[in-house]
Amino acid sequence: MTSAAVYMRLLRYLRPYVPQTIMAVACMLLATSASLYVPWIVRDVIDGVLVNKDILLLNAITAGIVVVFALRGFFVYGQNYLMAYVSQKIVIDLRESLFRHFQRLSVSYFDRSRTGKVLSYMTNDVGALQGALAQNVIELSTESLTLIGSLVAMFYLHWQLALLTLITVPLVAQAMKLFGAKLRKASGAMQQRAAEITSVLQEMIVSVRLIRLFVREEYETNRFMRENDNNFTAQMKAAQLSATLSPVIEFLAAIAVTVIIWYGGREVINGNLTSGSLIAFLVYAVNISNPVKRLGNVYGNIQRAVAAADRVFEVLDTLPEIEDAPDAMELSVVKGDVSFNQVGFEYRAGEAALKNLSIEIPAGQILAIVGPSGAGKSTIANLLPRFYDPQAGAICIDGVDIRKVTVRSLREQIAMVPQETILFNASIYENILYGKLDADKASVIEAAKAANAHDFILQLPDGYETQIGERGSQLSGGQRQRIAIARAILKNPRILILDEATSALDAESERVVQDALDKLMVGRTTFVIAHRLSTIQRADKILVMEKGRLIECGRHTELLDAGGLYCKLYSLQTEESL
Ligand SMILES: Nc1ncnc2c1ncn2[C@@H]1O[C@H](COP(=O)(O)OP(=O)(O)OP(=O)(O)O)[C@@H](O)[C@H]1O
Ligand SMILES: [Mg+2]
Repeated sequence: MTSAAVYMRLLRYLRPYVPQTIMAVACMLLATSASLYVPWIVRDVIDGVLVNKDILLLNAITAGIVVVFALRGFFVYGQNYLMAYVSQKIVIDLRESLFRHFQRLSVSYFDRSRTGKVLSYMTNDVGALQGALAQNVIELSTESLTLIGSLVAMFYLHWQLALLTLITVPLVAQAMKLFGAKLRKASGAMQQRAAEITSVLQEMIVSVRLIRLFVREEYETNRFMRENDNNFTAQMKAAQLSATLSPVIEFLAAIAVTVIIWYGGREVINGNLTSGSLIAFLVYAVNISNPVKRLGNVYGNIQRAVAAADRVFEVLDTLPEIEDAPDAMELSVVKGDVSFNQVGFEYRAGEAALKNLSIEIPAGQILAIVGPSGAGKSTIANLLPRFYDPQAGAICIDGVDIRKVTVRSLREQIAMVPQETILFNASIYENILYGKLDADKASVIEAAKAANAHDFILQLPDGYETQIGERGSQLSGGQRQRIAIARAILKNPRILILDEATSALDAESERVVQDALDKLMVGRTTFVIAHRLSTIQRADKILVMEKGRLIECGRHTELLDAGGLYCKLYSLQTEESL
């Protein structure tokens, strides 16, 4: 997109606040007019009062000055307040649309992106946009008005002198053009570097244990220092450009002032201009050098905003890979038959994670999936709630292709206890309640009991109200897992996916939780992924996966008799426990 297109799109965010913006611009017009009037007063004071020694006029002018400045103050207040209002509103709106868009984006987007980058869009980029719209609109109008008003006054006072002053204009325009493109590039780089800093910081916080354990503090600090230095370089590059731009423009302005004094002074001496008018003319001329310089600033701000907006819009324009089909139906109450028909899937092109997988699970049955690490077990679990769509084949629930129903209604039928437990920085109660937001307290406790979590929860200082820290860091792995199980139990879905759901539990807890899960599985279609084969012997069907392929399939005893990979894995595990 070109700068202009980006900026026009940005301006659309101003639309809901047109009345406030108009009011702000009105305040600005009045405040600027008041400022423009001041040199005129100066002229009257010099020519009328000082030359003619008129006391009455002096009194009138003095009173006039007080009134003009009082009014000006009032309008400046209005302009600043309203503009702050509009700016903040726009920031809120932008953040909200970004957040909403992040909620729509597919899991794969977050696989690809670094968290710190995503954070930076929200903070640095939206922050950079904050002033860009409202503030720039105001500055642009103030400065343009000052410029035009001053020019009109100058032409009125002495048009030849005014024309002479204007010779500097093309020079200034050329300078701005030269710097503009460079400024935009430098600003883009600056924001990019700021995002890197956020990334490194965020990764440091998440991996603090790892860093301590491997004593990599120095290494991480160096990594951060590198990014910090890069950021410094980028900032300085932009600062250097801005710093060069203003003196250049100021120098051109100084030349103009010199010309005015030289030529204007001759005109006063020759009697073609009053001294008051020359002074007023000078004040107006200095007045226009300000807008010219400021317009340069505004121009820089706009370039910076466009660079930030470019990135924000890029996120907003990223289409979610998984979305409801236009004619998607609601998947209402399901029986729970699940089938995979010749499903092929790859996370990255050319690296198949599942190959030609076909399975049938009648409603209410338990399907176990076993196989070595990386075989594609969790991938099967990821495809069912449509975290990803397979590239080949189809997955059906009750015979309906899951791509033909709304994502929401599909996910409402499914609960998953994922391999890596995900908990929020909230109370235990809230974490369980997440499974069904309108559940009452009794059901939450019942779910916790079923997950064998109730007892340990009561032993915590605040019971169910205990805050568990970020990602549940104040709980043990097994405790976290039991809370995740309670959450799934509370959701009470037709289809249940347990991905190593009891892997972090001791033998005793596992037995209790397994009992609870056994009860829970009754009447539901259940996917159980397990490394410990003892937990899945009762499954109706066991899939043995290897490198994305289904290599064996059957009941426990059948697979043992067949003497394949399952038999081998099983005998290895039973030997271990002997
Ligand atoms: N988000 C992802 N992006 C890219 N590749 C992935 C992703 N998740 C998994 N993979 C790859 O897909 C393959 C199957 O992974 P999967 O998680 O299904 O294995 P798994 O059978 O569950 O293994 P484990 O028993 O260790 O949990 C692996 O080779 C893995 O590297
Ligand atoms: Mg897995």
